[in-house]
Amino acid sequence: MAYTKRFDGRKFDEIREMEAKVGVIKSADGSAMFRMGKTIAIAAVRGPRNLHPRFLQNPEKGILRCNYDLMSFSVNERKRPGPSRRSQEVSLVTEKALLPALNLDDFPNSVVDVFVQILQADAGTRCAGINAASLALADAGVPMSDLICAVATGIIHKDKAVIDINKEEEDYEGGMADTPLAIMPHSGRITLLQMDGEASREEIKSAIEKTKEACMKIRDVQVNALKKKYGGIKDEI
Ligand code: CDP
Repeated sequence: MAYTKRFDGRKFDEIREMEAKVGVIKSADGSAMFRMGKTIAIAAVRGPRNLHPRFLQNPEKGILRCNYDLMSFSVNERKRPGPSRRSQEVSLVTEKALLPALNLDDFPNSVVDVFVQILQADAGTRCAGINAASLALADAGVPMSDLICAVATGIIHKDKAVIDINKEEEDYEGGMADTPLAIMPHSGRITLLQMDGEASREEIKSAIEKTKEACMKIRDVQVNALKKKYGGIKDEI
């Protein structure tokens, strides 16, 4: 059966309501909260700081280390505290999504640690985490060539791209290929592209274009959050 109307009434290219705040963890070097609908991510940055043990150090430049996890209370099902295969995978893709925007050449032998915690999960948590982490890195003053904006699109076979799917949509019985994507908005470079499901080359290409457009709205929310802390302005752009 065709998916003609979204479960929550949004348009097919509409992102959930977003909210972002920079500097939410005062003791961290940089921090941010990013909310997409009911999905809430918090990111904290520590560093650049000396990396131990020393055999992990790179004398040429600093390294980035990401640690993502869901809080036990963030999901309805039982979730054991502590790392899992899933959290390790998401940590790794988060690191790879963020790294192209960072310049750590001036920080040899150092590490920048990014901690992402999901307080409330309604799908798209890796994307919300990347959006928060990108802001937290900027807040920490880590040299960056661009922000990173991420959102997950659902691709329905022979139907359409569904931007920023929630959990109900992700579980849609008609089949929804969950496709998280992250871009550097200035250059348009893709830094994360995953897909869980099946879709044709044309469907993927078209979904990527629509997702990129949606990412520009995320960028606006991120820029506003940074301006609120650093730009001394209160109005939205
Ligand atoms: O969150 P994201 O879409 O990036 O990753 P996922 O592995 O595709 O997970 C999709 C969703 O499943 C999460 O956002 C949570 O809402 C839910 N989930 C859960 O309920 N319990 C888990 N242990 C893991 C995920």
